[in-house]
Amino acid sequence: MSELLRVENVHALADDKQILNGLNLEIKKGETHVIMGPNGAGKSTLDSVIMGNPQYKVTEGKVFFEGEDITALKADARARKGIFLSFQTPEEVPGVTLEDFLRVCRRNMTGQPLKVFAFRKELKALMDDLDMDPSYASRYLNVGFSGGEKKKSEILQMLVLQPKLAMLDETDSGLDVDAVRVVSKGIKKFKNEDNSLLIITHNARILENLDIDKVHILYNGRIIKTAGPELIEEVNTNGFANIIGKED
Ligand SMILES: Nc1ncnc2c1ncn2[C@@H]1O[C@H](COP(=O)(O)OP(=O)(O)OP(=O)(O)O)[C@@H](O)[C@H]1O
Ligand SMILES: [Mg+2]
Repeated sequence: MSELLRVENVHALADDKQILNGLNLEIKKGETHVIMGPNGAGKSTLDSVIMGNPQYKVTEGKVFFEGEDITALKADARARKGIFLSFQTPEEVPGVTLEDFLRVCRRNMTGQPLKVFAFRKELKALMDDLDMDPSYASRYLNVGFSGGEKKKSEILQMLVLQPKLAMLDETDSGLDVDAVRVVSKGIKKFKNEDNSLLIITHNARILENLDIDKVHILYNGRIIKTAGPELIEEVNTNGFANIIGKED
């Protein structure tokens, strides 16, 4: 399998605070990776750095996507290359409907004009799969959506955009049991042998339908342990203390 993403010795700051400290991560095409780690370890920061969020300054190291050094690229250029981030806390965007937003995103990704009715039909089918009321397509993006509805709208975005790398940051947090099942089905529907997933979670349930290739523990801005899916069970049973204790 060929390499999709390589994060090489990345050090990153926000507000002069050192958050990532020599972080290494490699994801091949078709793989599903999980990142776990205590609150404040730097997990969301890693996603932001891969996405190119300008709040974070990379002071050392590089990020490669499909072999190309993208460290200096802006977020929109990275999105066009096929990197997608589902936010831990999705933003509300008044004045832009969910459908218009998705249509513009798709057009920007493909560079092709879209047939409005065909797109609307596709969107309705995807919203049905996610148990989303189709009337939400004409509501302003995430405005007044409940926490769970915002997360579903992020998964809808992923399904519409079909990125090569989808990073999901605690997409399961705040979802009720049924919604976790629906979202997890949506993620499974998205996944194929050509795309890759990087999932941050504190909860094993969202992962149940997925074939996990690697699990990483992020602590103090670095990945301190990588193993197979059995590591999820170990963390859920024993917490992080054991693993962190073996560090340093
Ligand atoms: N823009 C920022 N400005 C200042 N500090 C930041 C910024 N972003 C993150 N941090 C700090 O960096 C550390 C890592 O934050 P991050 O959000 O990456 O943690 P996390 O591992 O995702 O935690 P959680 O599990 O709680 O979501 C925290 O101490 C946080 O306060
Ligand atoms: Mg986080």
